This record gives sequence, C-alpha cells and structure tokens, in this order.
Amino acid sequence: MKNNNLLLSLSLVSSLGLVSTAAAAKVCELSISATDTMQFSTKEMKVDSSCQSFKLTLTHTGKLPKQAMGHNWVLSKKADMNEIVAASIAAGLAKNYVADDKRVIAATELVGGGGTTTIDFKNTLTPGEEYMFYCTFPGHAGIMKGTFIVAAKG
Ligand code: CO
Repeated sequence: MKNNNLLLSLSLVSSLGLVSTAAAAKVCELSISATDTMQFSTKEMKVDSSCQSFKLTLTHTGKLPKQAMGHNWVLSKKADMNEIVAASIAAGLAKNYVADDKRVIAATELVGGGGTTTIDFKNTLTPGEEYMFYCTFPGHAGIMKGTFIVAAKG
C-alpha cells in the first residue's frame, strides 16, 4: 500500500511536469502537401514570431515513387537558397537530397507518393528576414518554392 502511494505520487509529479512544460512552450503546427505534378499546396507560409518551435508535416498526395517524384521541405534564408539547392542535388537520394549545410534551418526527409513526414524545429527565425521554403529534389525548386514569413508579435 505504501509503495502504491509512492508510485501514485511520482506519477502525479511527472504528469504535472509534462503539463507545465507544454503550457510554457508554444508549438505551432504547420502542414503542407505536394503533388505528382510538382506543386506545393501553398506559395506562402506565415508564422507568428511568438512560436517557440514548429511541428511541420509534409504530405505527398501523389502516387509516384520518391526516386521519380520525391518531395521534401527545406527552409533557409532566401539569400542562401540557390547554393543550398545546388549542394543538395549533389548530396544525392541517400541523403534525401539535403546538403549537410548549417544554413539549412530545417529539412524533412524525402517522401514519395502517399508518404508523410513530420519534423520539429526551434524558432530561431528573425521577423522581417526573408526566408524561403522549397523542395530540393533535382529540378523541383524552380517551381516548388514559396515565401516563409515570420510576423512580428502583436
Ligand atoms: Co519535389
């Protein structure tokens, strides 16, 4: 009985800990989809600077395999995009076509038709800075790209 009470107390403490952590961290959820015709579902994503982290889900709504029509979602400053795209193509399929480059702010894995993938990343973004999201599968970034806007608080 004594042991049971102790276990109950411990589980209450850990539950409360989880609740307060969740309340303190503002996680903003983002979702985007991509098709067999090389289109993202949006050309613009807008987030609030008060988000402490992001949970982004990419869904490939097509049917083609990732070797033929793979999609990922990569975020960087606009100024870094072209070099990251070039280096990412060189990185190859085994690396999800994502360059090992610290200027990559966030990147999902590459998914094929019917696939979905989720990433979590911290908000290290500066309001007013120009950011872009894009797919680094070879030949896709020219069309599969959009602006990522960080709106200032309030
Ligand atoms: Co793509």
